[in-house]
Amino acid sequence: MTEAAGLLDPHLTVGTAPAGREKLGLRGVSRHFGAVHALDRIDASIPEGAFVTLIGPSGCGKSTLFNILAGLLEPDPGGSVALDGMVVPPGGLLGRVAFMPQRDLLLPWRSVLDNAILAAEVQGQPKKEARALAREMARDFGLAGFEDHFPQQLSGGMRQRVALMRTFLFDRDVMLLDEPFGALDALTRSLMQRWLLDIWSRYRRTIVFITHDIDEAIFLADRVLVMGARPGRIRMDRAIDLPRPRAAALITAPEFTAIKRELLEVLEEESLKTFQAGQR
Ligand SMILES: Nc1ncnc2c1ncn2[C@@H]1O[C@H](COP(=O)(O)OP(=O)(O)O)[C@@H](O)[C@H]1O
Ligand SMILES: [Mg+2]
Repeated sequence: MTEAAGLLDPHLTVGTAPAGREKLGLRGVSRHFGAVHALDRIDASIPEGAFVTLIGPSGCGKSTLFNILAGLLEPDPGGSVALDGMVVPPGGLLGRVAFMPQRDLLLPWRSVLDNAILAAEVQGQPKKEARALAREMARDFGLAGFEDHFPQQLSGGMRQRVALMRTFLFDRDVMLLDEPFGALDALTRSLMQRWLLDIWSRYRRTIVFITHDIDEAIFLADRVLVMGARPGRIRMDRAIDLPRPRAAALITAPEFTAIKRELLEVLEEESLKTFQAGQR
């Protein structure tokens, strides 16, 4: 199946937009931090409504790319990010995409509901309105009955769902998630992955999801972008045409392991480079 074929799945199209239209584009995005060359001429095209995962060895520039897509960081001159086919001028991306940073802290003195509405509130949405919406969403996020609890009263998985609800409540077409399940145990993580796919199919957003877990990268995605050792580049852009909805047992299916083997080969090579660079 070609990349485009995956996009014809009605599950993945958003509203009335034509399937496969580019939502987010990276054009020659590089980034230096002094002498550190973090990203090197990244080109990527993220289709509207797609679930794209980004995987790569630690230190390869995933969070740097995330920050650029979130509008928190500018690429080096010459590179650009396009949103809905329009190149975004410097400083123009912030606020146009919803994002959840790698360490998205909940405020301990705010209730579940008030943590969830934080981003919307900062954006100027009336608190009452935001709270009403959050109350409705709480059930979908597995938080019904916990709206007035405080973060320290919740399990790790629940805290992540509050942080995710905050990101969904910041109502944008594009959502960026930087290793949102990184701190969870394997079982909770697997539950959360299936839950996120279900939420995604109902709320319909374009998602860019960063992870260093290969099973997670494949299980969630329409497309996996594999990043290489620093300076970060896209080493592989693999369409994942496994059928949806996806069940937990999928990760043991031969189609799945075949893809995993392909990705592992690239990742191993890249991780080895990172390791060798560290030995020098
Ligand atoms: N603000 C910064 N200042 C200096 N170096 C940075 C900064 N942010 C990231 N780096 C460097 O850029 C490289 C990529 O980092 P990062 O994007 O965090 O990688 P990843 O998220 O893939 O682990 C690393 O070598 C890191 O030390
Ligand atoms: Mg990171």
